[in-house]
Amino acid sequence: MNVGLVGVTGYSGSVLFELLLRHPQVDHINLYGHAQKVAQSLEEVLPQLRRRDNILPYDPADIMKNNQMVFFATSAGVTTKLAKPFLEANFPVIDLAGDYRLKSRDVYKHWYKKDAPEDQYLQQAHYGLTDFYSSKGEKYVANPGCYATSTILALAPLVQNHLIDPTSIVVDAKSGTSGAGKKLTEITHFSKTNENLQLYKVNQHQHIPEIVQQFQEWDENVPYIQFTTTLLPLTRGIMASCYAKAKDNVTEKEVRDAFVKTYSDDTFVNATEGVFPTLKQVVGTNFCDIGYQLNPVTHQIVIISVIDNLLKGAAGQAIQNFNQMFDYAPEAGLNLSPVLPI
Ligand SMILES: NC(=O)c1ccc[n+]([C@@H]2O[C@H](COP(=O)([O-])OP(=O)(O)OC[C@H]3O[C@@H](n4cnc5c(N)ncnc54)[C@H](OP(=O)(O)O)[C@@H]3O)[C@@H](O)[C@H]2O)c1
Repeated sequence: MNVGLVGVTGYSGSVLFELLLRHPQVDHINLYGHAQKVAQSLEEVLPQLRRRDNILPYDPADIMKNNQMVFFATSAGVTTKLAKPFLEANFPVIDLAGDYRLKSRDVYKHWYKKDAPEDQYLQQAHYGLTDFYSSKGEKYVANPGCYATSTILALAPLVQNHLIDPTSIVVDAKSGTSGAGKKLTEITHFSKTNENLQLYKVNQHQHIPEIVQQFQEWDENVPYIQFTTTLLPLTRGIMASCYAKAKDNVTEKEVRDAFVKTYSDDTFVNATEGVFPTLKQVVGTNFCDIGYQLNPVTHQIVIISVIDNLLKGAAGQAIQNFNQMFDYAPEAGLNLSPVLPI
């Protein structure tokens, strides 16, 4: 099939383009920009991709005429403005941005400091958390955020099975700099990032409401989470270190059974008791690796999850949603290996 991609010049867009080039069901990828009125050579903007494709001027009618679906890998707030024609035409969209993930307009406005999409469109969007929901037949998929993916996957078995005190969730999440996109910011200068650790957006990260919204779907008693984010001096990768108090009388076996039941048939999530993953084992892949352990002394459960923010946290999960949407094999286009040696 032919697919459209808006945002190839961004970090997640360029990774998504690479995945689509290798996808067995994709015949042609039409690239669309936003600033230019005439086609622009991709080689000029991203010579490292060594491709001769052109980036076409943005035109929704052209996108719908020449493609069977479109991906948006654009900055926050862009699809709020651009997606309406597709939603009205019921044309399939997979949106990597946060615009359509939250169901409340007020919550979106509070956390993103931007106007939210119209309510009817927000309710039309499907939250594409691929390990728990299927996008089959969906028309507008809001691909989950990177921190949200690693945190939700780490805690899902415990929240769903009501094994923890719902008020006790603490998450210490860390990300490489590509999580912030390609624009230079005050904290991503080389001299600030290199050989350093910096906390940022403490209690203010926009993925907090996305995680809470999902946990409340599974357990309405989860009021909030304590969530901090740290910038790592690395390009790619997220490690979410999560802690929660086990309910009285919850045993190691109950915790183990919950993780086994949840993930034993999952293609991309591996959870192991007492074996804690490293970042590099997943960077370059679409896997989420999880290690967990109930501490018998403190009765706290520690859960560590790692993902590649640009793959399982963005473009890889977008391909999973694409595969679900069109009924392709779950691993199509996602046969990836970590960078060796580890
Ligand atoms: N980075 C991650 O790890 C990650 C993970 C999960 C989700 N996401 C989400 O994915 C989206 C893209 O993130 P990113 O990190 O790839 O960002 P990025 O590197 O900053 O790239 C942003 C892309 O959006 C395009 N763009 C900017 N303004 C636009 C407009 N008005 N109309 C159309 N396109 C516009 C940019 O085009 P120009 O080059 O012309 O500026 C660029 O192609 C964001 O919404 C982000 O939250 C990112």
